[in-house]
Amino acid sequence: MNDDFLITKEYRRFAEFCDACRQYRYIGVCHGRPGVGKTLSACYYSNWDTLQIIFNNKFRDKRETIEPGPGVADARSIFYTAPVAASSNRIEEGIRSARYDLSYALEWVKSVRNGEPDFDVLHLFDPTELIIVDEADRLKMAGLEQLRDIYDRGNLGLILIGMPGLEKRLARYPQLYSRVGFVHEYRALSTEELRFIMEHKWADLGLNFQPNDFTDTEAMTTIARITGGNFRLIQRLFTQIQRILEINNLHTITKEVVETARQSLIIGS
Ligand SMILES: Nc1ncnc2c1ncn2[C@@H]1O[C@H](COP(=O)(O)OP(=O)(O)OP(=O)(O)O)[C@@H](O)[C@H]1O
Ligand SMILES: [Mg+2]
Repeated sequence: MNDDFLITKEYRRFAEFCDACRQYRYIGVCHGRPGVGKTLSACYYSNWDTLQIIFNNKFRDKRETIEPGPGVADARSIFYTAPVAASSNRIEEGIRSARYDLSYALEWVKSVRNGEPDFDVLHLFDPTELIIVDEADRLKMAGLEQLRDIYDRGNLGLILIGMPGLEKRLARYPQLYSRVGFVHEYRALSTEELRFIMEHKWADLGLNFQPNDFTDTEAMTTIARITGGNFRLIQRLFTQIQRILEINNLHTITKEVVETARQSLIIGS
C-alpha cells in the first residue's frame, strides 16, 4: 500500500502536526472529511504496514525479506483503530498490544542490523512516544476516559483522528479537552496539488500528462470539479476512467471520458 502513497502537502502538514504532538507530548485532534487521506497518512507516518509485517509472526518468510529502512528504525508511534462499541478494557488491551508490537519490531530491526538472530522478547523497552487513534468518533465516554488515563500514565503524545465535528464533541469532556494542545484540519487537495496527482495518475495508465495541452487541462478541471480534491473519489474515478479507456480502446483522457466515468460513480461525500 505504501508504494502508492503520494507525499502531498497535506501529508506534510499532517506529519508536522504528528511531530509536534510527539515532541511536546500533547493531545492532538485531527479532523477531515471522509476520503481525504487521514488513515493512509497516519499509517504512512507510523510505518505501520511495515511494522505489522515484522511483528506478525505468521508472515515470517515475508518478514525476512524486509530491508528495514531508517524510517522503521526511527518509528516511535503506534496506529490504533478504535473498534466499534468497544469496552474500555478492550481499548486498553489493544493499545497495550500495539505498543508491545512496536517494541518487538524495533528490537528485531536492531538485531538484524547487528547481525544477531535472536533477542530477548521478555525484556523489551517500550519506545512509544505517540499513540494515533483512528476512527475516534466511535469512542464513547468510557473509551475517551481510558485514553486519557493511558495518556496521563505515560509520557507520550496522543492523536485522535475523526470526522469534522470531532473536536466539538470532545469539548463536552472538559478533562480530556483541556489536555488538547493542537487541532488540525486535514483538507482536500488544492488545485495546484491536483496537477501533481494527475501526473501520477496519467503515468499509472501509461500516459503522459501535459499541463500545456488543452485536453489534459480540461480533463483535470473536470476531475477537480467532480471530486473536489477528495482522494478517495479520485481513486475511484480513475478506476472507472481506466475501464472506459480499455473498453473503447482509447489512449487519451478527455473531458468526455471523465464525465462518462463519473456516471458510474456514487458520489456520496
Ligand atoms: N497520499 C495518498 N496517496 C495515494 N492515495 C491516497 C493518499 N491518501 C489517500 N489516498 C487514497 O484515498 C483513499 C482514502 O484515503 P483514507 O482511507 O486515508 O481516507 P480517510 O480520510 O481516512 O477517510 P475516512 O474518513 O472515510 O476514514 C485511499 O484508499 C487511497 O486510495
Ligand atoms: Mg479513515
